[in-house]
Order: sequence, then structure tokens, then C-alpha cells
Amino acid sequence: RKLLLVNGVNLNLLGKREPEIYGHTTLADIEEKLTARAADYGIKLICTQSNHEGKLIDDIQHYGLLVDAAEQVDAIIINPAAFTHTSVALRDALLATQKPFIEVHLSNVHTREPFRHLSYLSDVAVGVITGLGHLGYQMALDYWLVNTYQTNF
Ligand code: DQA
Repeated sequence: RKLLLVNGVNLNLLGKREPEIYGHTTLADIEEKLTARAADYGIKLICTQSNHEGKLIDDIQHYGLLVDAAEQVDAIIINPAAFTHTSVALRDALLATQKPFIEVHLSNVHTREPFRHLSYLSDVAVGVITGLGHLGYQMALDYWLVNTYQTNF
């Protein structure tokens, strides 16, 4: 029972970065809260963040496909940040794993600049959560708890 949480470029700055858009919660807070909630249900949450596209791809390949099947994650929660709008490579890495994933954005990308309206991931995601701030991550986790692990709420 394992899940992968992936955060992309500039999300290490959460709390400091345009807080009026992205909120005051830090990435460490988000990761700690989600890790604890997952652990309550016997699930290990593996957290990764990078400003480097290739590192994110390496981690997705590793935890989603390259490790022994028994060690692989069951599903993925990903906020690719700006890579959402640019990265065919990230899409291909996610597809390569054949693991279901939920795309999360803190801000509502559809109310922002037009270049944020395009996502290279949304059409192959199980779902997309956008505009609900850090709660979006929690909701994505809850979805996997119910759907992948049949947790009763
Ligand atoms: C973001 C939205 C992206 O457009 C932006 O580049 C980010 C963060 C969000 O969480 O709202 O860095 O993914």
C-alpha cells in the first residue's frame, strides 16, 4: 500500500511564493499532513518535489515502474506546477507507469492566464482538482483511500 505525491517546479517555495495565489501553507506542512493521514490507513506516502523535470520523471519511472511490482506505488497525486503546461515528457512518464493519477493545482488555473488552461495531463488523469488550495491534495488522497483501498468514510 503505497502512494506517490509529486510536486513540480517552484512548489518548494509554497508559503513564500505569491501567497495571495498559492496560500500560506508550506510544502512541508502539506507533505506532513498527508503522510500522517495516509499512515492512519496503513498507507505509505512517498513525497517528492523537484525543480528539474528530469528528476520528477526519474522518480515517477522509479516508483511507478522500475522497482519490483510489489514495491510499486498504487496511484499518484501530482501537482506538476508549470510543467503542467509544457511537458509531454511528464505525460509520457505517467502513461508509462500505467498508474492512475490525480492532477492537483492550488489555484484555479482556468481563471488565470490562457496559457494555464492547457494541461498535458488532464485528459489522461483520473481527475483534476484545481482552485481548492492545499485541501485539494487532501481530497485527492481521500479519493485513493476510498477507491483504491476501499476505506469507509
Ligand atoms: C499551479 C498552477 C500552475 O499554472 C503554476 O505554474 C504553478 C502552480 C497551482 O498549483 O496552482 O506553479 O500548478
